[in-house]
This record gives sequence, structure tokens and C-alpha cells, in this order.
Amino acid sequence: MAPLKYYLWSIGCQMNDADSARAAEALEQMGFVRVSAPQEADVLLLNTCVVRQSAEDKVRGHLASLKAVKRRRPDAFLAVMGCFVDDARTLHEQYPYVDLFLRPSDVEGFIRAVRERMALGEGWVRPPLPAPVSVYVPIVYGCDHFCTYCIVRLRRGKQRSRPPEEIIAEVEELVRRGAREVTLLGQNVDSYGRDLPGKPDLAYLLELIHPIKGLWRIRFLTSHPADMSPRIIEAVASLPKVCEHLEIPVQSGDDIILKRMVRGYTVAQYRELVRRIREAIPGVSLATDVIVGFPGETEEQFMNTYRLLEEIRFDVVHVAAYSPRPGTAASRLRDDVPPEEKKRRLKLVEELQEKIASEINAGLVGKEVEVLVEGRRKGRWFGRTRTNKLVFFEDPGNWDGQMVMVKVEEAGPWSLRGSLVRKVEVEE
Ligand code: SAM
Ligand code: SF4
Ligand code: F3S
Repeated sequence: MAPLKYYLWSIGCQMNDADSARAAEALEQMGFVRVSAPQEADVLLLNTCVVRQSAEDKVRGHLASLKAVKRRRPDAFLAVMGCFVDDARTLHEQYPYVDLFLRPSDVEGFIRAVRERMALGEGWVRPPLPAPVSVYVPIVYGCDHFCTYCIVRLRRGKQRSRPPEEIIAEVEELVRRGAREVTLLGQNVDSYGRDLPGKPDLAYLLELIHPIKGLWRIRFLTSHPADMSPRIIEAVASLPKVCEHLEIPVQSGDDIILKRMVRGYTVAQYRELVRRIREAIPGVSLATDVIVGFPGETEEQFMNTYRLLEEIRFDVVHVAAYSPRPGTAASRLRDDVPPEEKKRRLKLVEELQEKIASEINAGLVGKEVEVLVEGRRKGRWFGRTRTNKLVFFEDPGNWDGQMVMVKVEEAGPWSLRGSLVRKVEVEE
């Protein structure tokens, strides 16, 4: 019998990447083989994002293109999961050829539906597959903040933390299957545990995960500046496996805009947080997110953001032009920064950041960095430093899943290139 085939299309943030990887793994354990042509698939999954209008347009475009596929193969099972899914009844009216709409992260619901639909019994499961070297582990779903531009909290619901025991068991299992690095995920990862009995925090969870044998590195993202506690900073500073890299979105460098975004901190508080982080964690790398062209953002207010980026010098800046999203508080404000002006501000931030990142990375040339090798890309080995810099090197040996030292020879704004120095023996 020919194997069953699945098609997976996924966009959005790391949370979606994590959910898609889980869905793919479960399907493969059930014997499915992935295909890139939707018309060949027995099961199709679209994992969707609507963070900006452009993402939603992509989802709707892709969904429209699958109508013909479903017409030719009505027996194929088409499921749509993720932040696009709001009111399933309305969506069913708009897209009657979709078999099932699932809330974000409802991978279990998806797999259950596939089993029922394909009449696959529980006994169909293969032995566990090897895990990638670096894996995402969602630890908290949803978000309790009220950022006025944000649709994520509306689509993903209130904060729900997974119990520590469940997370530990999952990390142990992933390590047994070959994972060496875990990235703990949450929209607001540093508020982990507030909704659990006894209120265990992220620092406590990091301490629990840290002793797991065979696990070499721990990361987490995304952190909210107002929730980053001294305990968490201390945990990153003192636990050797926790990497010195934080993703901590500032969104704007202007107090009035921050207030209208309801971010819950001022520029001065953010600056002070960065100072404390840099003092406690030498060599820490910092990533941030910025929105330009929020309703009412003046040139001067934009320049406050620009100057803050110049001052702090982040390693990475994800910049986006404001996009009004249905149901959000900001969508009731007039979207008065013209598109060309948003584009201009976006470009200014991109150019500034390219320069800053090039300068920071140039400082690594000639130095040796520790790299966990994740695999091969275009004939070269690649992996990341503890500070999350992407590193490429060429070598005839097999370094998959190994920790190595690489001497940096060339640095660009987005990646480094170097040569292998030696393997690192990691103490368990
Ligand atoms: N919880 C995280 C946080 O607080 O930053 C991530 C939220 S969202 C998945 C990722 C980024 O998308 C945000 O940091 C923000 O910069 C951007 N974003 C969210 N809503 C947006 C909007 N309406 N327009 C433009 N960018 C937006
Ligand atoms: Fe959205 Fe703000 Fe929550 Fe991030 S912290 S998911 S931007 S509401
Ligand atoms: Fe997109 Fe939802 Fe993530 S809107 S960015 S997939 S939380």
C-alpha cells in the first residue's frame, strides 16, 4: 500500500513553528510522508498567522488556491489551524471546502481528527523519531497583556502555563531522542507560572531543567520588559546551560507611544532593565522588536525610537510597519501615518540596524566561538553561538549535533563564517 501523504504550510512566529513541527512529527509517526505538492496529499494542514494584514492576505491567498485542489480531491482532509481561526462558524461559511478549523496550538485536536478521518487506530504508532539538535518547547500559551495593536492575545486567549512536571518530562524525552538545545516558548515567556498553583516562575523552571543530563543549552523567548524579574536575570547569569541571549521587545522609544500601546513601561525603565541585564550577564546579546508608524507617531516620536536603537545597539532588531488589526483597541485609532512614510521609517531602522549588527559582529573576527552544529546548508555546516549568532563553516568531517569551536574569519550583519578549530567535549 502506498504511504499516506501530507502537505504542511506554516507561517508566523516560533510558536507556530513549534506547533507545525509537532503536527509533522505526529503524522510521520503515523506513517505519513511529507509532499510539497498539495494536490498529492491525503491530509493538508495550514498553520496560520494574522499578526499583520500582509500575513492574513497570504493565508487567504493560499486558502483560495486550495479550493481547486479540494474540488479535484474531495476525499483529502483539509485543516486550518492558528491565529487566523477566530469564529469557526463564519470561517466555514467563507471557506466551505475546509474540513476543520482549529484554534492556535491545537495539535492534539488535529491529530485526533486525522485518526478519525483516516480510520487509523491508536496502534498505528511507530517508534519515536530522532529529535532535531535544537527544539522549541512551548511552556506558556496565550497572553494576559493588553498591547493595543496586538491581535495575538485575542486569538490565543488568556495565559495558560504548562505544569513544570509536564515540561520536564517532555524535555527529558526530547533529549533521549537526541536534542541538545531547547528553546522555551511563550508570547510572554517571563510571566510563566503566574497562573499555576504555587506560582512557580521561569527562574524556578530553568533551575529544574538545568540538571537534565545530555541537555547542553537552554534558551527562552519572548520576554516582556515589564515581566523580566531580577530572579530571571540571575538565573540566566548563574546557570551555565542558559545561553546569554534575550529577546525583549521594546516596540517604541517614545513614552507617549508606549503609553498608547499600553506596554506597561517607560523608556527610562527599559533602559534601566538593559543596564541591569548587561551588568549581570557579561557578553549578553539582545534582540528586540519595533513597530514604526503606530497611529499618531510623529517624526520626533519615531526619531526617539531611532535614537534609542542607536544608543542601546541591539544585536538583532525585528522591525515592522504598524498594521491595524480587527478587534484591537488601536484599530479604532486613525491609521494616519501614510504607507510611504511607514516604509521610509522601516527602511531607516533596517539600515541603522544593518550597520550596528555589522559593527558588533565585526568585533568577533579573529575570535573563537562555541557553536552547536544543527546541520548542513548549501554544502556548509551551520549552527549558533550561545549568543544566537548564525555561524557557517566548511569541513569534510561529520559535525552534526556536535559542539565545536569555530574561529571567526568573516562577519556580516546576519551571520558569521569561520573555520573549525576543535570539538568541544561537553560535560554532562
Ligand atoms: N508577545 C511578543 C511581544 O510582546 O512582543 C510577540 C508578539 S507578536 C507575535 C511579534 C511582533 O509582531 C511584536 O513584537 C510586534 O513588534 C509585531 N506586531 C504585533 N502586532 C502588530 C501590528 N498590529 N502591526 C505591526 N506589527 C505588529
Ligand atoms: Fe501581544 Fe503584547 Fe501579549 Fe505580546 S505581550 S502577545 S504584543 S498583547
Ligand atoms: Fe502570528 Fe499568531 Fe504568532 S498571529 S506571529 S502566529 S502568535
